[in-house]
Amino acid sequence: MQIREFRQDEFIDREKEIQFLKDWVNHIPKEILWLYGPKSTGKTTLIEYVIEKEWTSNLKIFDKYWIKYINFRRTMVGSYASFINSFFEESEGEDDFSGEVRAGFNIGVIRLEAKLLEKIKNNKKNLFNELIEKFKKLKKTKILIIDEIQTLESIYYNGEKELLKEFLNFCVSLTKETHLCHVIILSSNTIFIDRIYNDAKLKVTSRFKKIDHLDYETIKEWLLSKDLEFSSKDVDLIWDYLGGCIPLIQRALREQTYFNSLEEYLENEVKLAESEIIDLMVKFMTDEEKKLFEDIARVIIQQGLYIVEKDETREKMKVIDFMAEKEIFFYDPLMRKVTGNNRLYEKGFERICN
Ligand SMILES: Nc1ncnc2c1ncn2[C@@H]1O[C@H](COP(=O)(O)OP(=O)(O)OP(=O)(O)O)[C@@H](O)[C@H]1O
Ligand SMILES: [Mg+2]
Repeated sequence: MQIREFRQDEFIDREKEIQFLKDWVNHIPKEILWLYGPKSTGKTTLIEYVIEKEWTSNLKIFDKYWIKYINFRRTMVGSYASFINSFFEESEGEDDFSGEVRAGFNIGVIRLEAKLLEKIKNNKKNLFNELIEKFKKLKKTKILIIDEIQTLESIYYNGEKELLKEFLNFCVSLTKETHLCHVIILSSNTIFIDRIYNDAKLKVTSRFKKIDHLDYETIKEWLLSKDLEFSSKDVDLIWDYLGGCIPLIQRALREQTYFNSLEEYLENEVKLAESEIIDLMVKFMTDEEKKLFEDIARVIIQQGLYIVEKDETREKMKVIDFMAEKEIFFYDPLMRKVTGNNRLYEKGFERICN
């Protein structure tokens, strides 16, 4: 386990994931790569680290890669027009597809000649066909990275066309069909990943890589490497309450000093998680649904996870979907595993079910 510096902060572990991503783009693009996993495991941080430190850290490497990274959480996309704007800029003269290094962050800029851009915006030219033509001319290794893709759901264009569907078709075409460009898509929306995973066409053209919370050994090494005078008992206490969720642990390190003890801080955090869950239960669940939720939560407490079986009732699946949508559960469709989105919620389950 390494601790590196990234944006004047510590960047913990993830050597295996970094290597995986570096290797991935050295092969011919054949599948869409989906990075998925529970909330706040560090998917965005990981990809931004790799872009900045591995793929574009010096100009020589940037000569090799052309990278377009769009984070739809930061780019407000509410319409087809704003989607186009997140890809293109208007060029003064000819199309410019070279990509450029911008201060602080390197991104591929696609500049299009004004007339062509206008035609795309008016649906007189197809955006995706134009992009494919441009990609064919660019000889570098191309990597298209999209974060928070579910934002595109419910955007329509050209009458009835669903933007998300067309965009994913385009991604299949870039990878499986033409091998022109790598496509890496990130999402923590488990309902969305479930739908993609169960879409027959996308399933065979996608590779799903889970980015999970850190494991016990890594957390222990990280905490003991800090000058905090933590005992092994403190580390175990943190692990029991917060698991391997990096931002929760970072917050505990910052805020525990305002409490009489580490344990008091952690107990307070569990109370907040418990309240959040109870609030959802009383506002949105019927008595029957509450009971089903507690049945699932109890299995998670006892066995660490709940497996969805083939005879699962629709009522129970509805409860799982609801709690996953509210980011209390994490549902992994590949193994059909349900867990808490982080350990704190699982501690909350313990309180609710007892
Ligand atoms: N490897 C890491 N080292 C240090 N800090 C990290 C690491 N990974 C994530 N973090 C911190 O954890 C927080 C959450 O990370 P990030 O937003 O990347 O997670 P995410 O999985 O993309 O979340 P979401 O599910 O909401 O998209 C950030 O504040 C980030 O700085
Ligand atoms: Mg993210």
